[in-house]
Amino acid sequence: GVNLDKLMAKTGLVTLDPGFVNTAACESDITYIDGEAGILRYRGYPIEELASNSNFVEVSYLLIYGELPTKEQYEDFADRVRRHTLLHEDLRKFFDGFPRDAHPMPVLSSAVSALSTFYQDSLNPFDQQQVELSTHRLLAKLPTIAAYAYKKSVGQPFLYPDNSLGLVENFLRMTFGFPAEPYEVDPTMARALDMLFILHADHEQNCSTSTVRMVGSSEANLFASTSAGINALFGPLHGGANSAVLEMLEGIRAEGGDVDSFVERVKNKEPGVKLMGFGHRVYKNYDPRARIIKKTADEVLEKLGGDDPLLDIALKLEERALSDDYFIERNLYPNVDFYTGLIYKAMGFPTKFFTVLFALGRLPGWIAHWREMMDDPARKISRPRQVYTGYAERPYVPMNER
Ligand code: ACO
Repeated sequence: GVNLDKLMAKTGLVTLDPGFVNTAACESDITYIDGEAGILRYRGYPIEELASNSNFVEVSYLLIYGELPTKEQYEDFADRVRRHTLLHEDLRKFFDGFPRDAHPMPVLSSAVSALSTFYQDSLNPFDQQQVELSTHRLLAKLPTIAAYAYKKSVGQPFLYPDNSLGLVENFLRMTFGFPAEPYEVDPTMARALDMLFILHADHEQNCSTSTVRMVGSSEANLFASTSAGINALFGPLHGGANSAVLEMLEGIRAEGGDVDSFVERVKNKEPGVKLMGFGHRVYKNYDPRARIIKKTADEVLEKLGGDDPLLDIALKLEERALSDDYFIERNLYPNVDFYTGLIYKAMGFPTKFFTVLFALGRLPGWIAHWREMMDDPARKISRPRQVYTGYAERPYVPMNER
């Protein structure tokens, strides 16, 4: 073979691919997507099977270590993740410094970034033992951080984690419980949230995961790289879409529930008007996660008592879009987030908290990719090229002559 890097460097050729639509940045064994067929597998296992048979802690293990755990491996891993849930008391104080109405996503990324200051033993990304410890710490502490971001926003006291509970149960208790009051975890709610986390757990080189890999390629530690990933997820074209869907549905309801006129505005490409929760860079067919979630939404809404008129609007919107040439020609189908907001709302989460739930789900994927990249002998610092379109050389002009 030809060494393409060297050949391109010699000839000065670069490929221009805005948004990396056709450019692979790495090889990966973690997640397989066939966007035409609507297939998603983690480490070879179909998402449908994992969603119905597994749990989020097991799927985290699968993504990070490559295999489903044996019973001993599972218990050991779950125990480690359980034992690291507490936050340093000084980190708890961080939450006091943020304004009460702060958006929880930057609170989350700030607290994760701050983990590097509390665990300075995490700074060497080649120390395998420390990487293991950072993995457990991050998986265990992110739900606590998320729950505190919520408590802060509603002005309620923080709860210490109860390490006799599983990850999702503990998170629900710290979020919705009160100190010195028993909190009964609703099993329907816990199971549904666990499943949603599984569905969000990885999605190969999406924007936030690519960010984690890019930051990590400079050999920044796991906490710094994950914090960057959380910030990438914040945007409305990525994780922020789940909140944006609900705002869109509420907007349609407030204007009398006229789905047709909203779809016309989307088709006329009114600035800022998109059918949120529709379309995907890779899926040009029904997102397999959306299929599973749609089935669950009905069930969960019924059990949690949320007879939500927004569900009707969502169903009408979907039906209307799927039979419209604009959406058919562009292969636009519901993505994972079209129905999640309705479920989160029925669970009692405020709209701006939805993207935090996405981050909790996506965490094992970020960790798995960061670790895969660090172990890859072909790893290089991420450093894209550009096609320069600015001025040719020109002489400096003194200020009084401009
Ligand atoms: N509503 C209306 N039109 C859309 C939508 C949408 N949701 N998505 C894409 N289109 C149109 C575009 O305007 C474009 O039309 P054109 O060819 O006439 O210009 C065409 O479909 C192709 O769209 P692109 O923007 O080129 O597709 P891209 O792959 O770059 O974008 C994205 C993918 C960002 C997900 C886009 O579909 C979108 O903005 N969707 C809404 C936001 C959303 O739901 N994001 C969540 C994504 S999944 C996730 O992160 C979990």
